[in-house]
Amino acid sequence: MDIICSRETGRIISIGRSGTLPDDAQSITWDATGCFATAAWADAHTHAAFSGDRSNEFFQRWSGLDYTEIAARGGGIHRTVADTATASDAEIERQLAGYLSAMLASGVTTVEVKSGYGGTPEGELRLLRLIKRVQAKVAAHGMVVKSTFLGLHALPSGWSEDDYCDAMIGLLPLIAEQRLSDFVDAFPEKGFFSLTSADRFLQAARQHDLGMRLHADEITSMGAALAGVRLGALSVDHLECISADGIAALAGSDTVATLLPATALYLGLQDTDARKLIDAGVRVALATDFNPGTAPSHDMQLTLLLGAARLRLSPAELLAAVTYNAAAALGMDTVAGIIAAGWRADIAIWSSTATSQPCDLLNALFVGQKRPVAVVAGGQLVAGDDLARIRQGGCMS
Ligand code: NIG
Ligand code: FE
Repeated sequence: MDIICSRETGRIISIGRSGTLPDDAQSITWDATGCFATAAWADAHTHAAFSGDRSNEFFQRWSGLDYTEIAARGGGIHRTVADTATASDAEIERQLAGYLSAMLASGVTTVEVKSGYGGTPEGELRLLRLIKRVQAKVAAHGMVVKSTFLGLHALPSGWSEDDYCDAMIGLLPLIAEQRLSDFVDAFPEKGFFSLTSADRFLQAARQHDLGMRLHADEITSMGAALAGVRLGALSVDHLECISADGIAALAGSDTVATLLPATALYLGLQDTDARKLIDAGVRVALATDFNPGTAPSHDMQLTLLLGAARLRLSPAELLAAVTYNAAAALGMDTVAGIIAAGWRADIAIWSSTATSQPCDLLNALFVGQKRPVAVVAGGQLVAGDDLARIRQGGCMS
């Protein structure tokens, strides 16, 4: 099978049996004989713009303190806010670019990155500007970063909730005008923000044409998923404690349910009932939630394994959850998430054996924690653990 892609746009021009496609000087052709290809992954929920480490909190939880109590004592998000405030711009940029390149090498070509560790209006703007700089840097390698203004994450000390919410709403005109983010997000949760504040913030963002997403029903069930659907959010995320009403609302909507099973693993939460969501007709995506406190791993393969082992998704459901559905969660399903003419050439290439059946290949991909031998991002061949070997072996040209 040949895939021909445009040098100029990074989009796929045509797909067809080897040797049957017309030669075009403006196109690039790769020969992946002996391999198999899937659409590359999208990670639709990360908090990758931070500094510092909170792995000690994982063990603190064993002594009886839960996530909310650690935050109430100044740990959790507040600690990362403090660590991020003292790190230099160069340091945060370098770390973020490093995480993104590791993700790219593992087959992830689209990543959503949230602010949220700014802790003040200026701190939030600083993070959004840093994300934008890194976004431009990785775009040169074909990778897409979508940026989210997570205005309501944890209330900093010295502010009332209403005043902080007003201050975050006050940033929206500038953020929209300078295109500092694609989306907004909030964390309505006991001990963090009320659903009323989240609703107020998202409604204000909608007036500025910013897409909405929401951390919803993670630790307590507060009707956040339902509120997100009613607001027209692109995605509601987590959903460990979603109500029956929330599931019904999601099923009748275009909002994607983005599940984050690594967070439940690290925090010891109950898993989201993915089967119930899928059976109800909800569109389900999987993402890492990469952050220093509740999911300190940006490994999509770990997330996929948890999707299989804990959420009991089938191989086909897993594939959809990190490609097409993840693209939909980012409002990108008309450009990314499938291999088709007109779509971005975002392709992961995996090794196979001559005797493997397509079904076995997919099973092995998720259960066997496979790594791609090569990755194409926006038409650029960018990475692959075995790339050198494959090149010598004639798989790629
Ligand atoms: O999605 N829940 C809120 N935000 C992150 C955690 C952030 C943190 O603890 O630093 C989450 O789990
Ligand atoms: Fe999160």
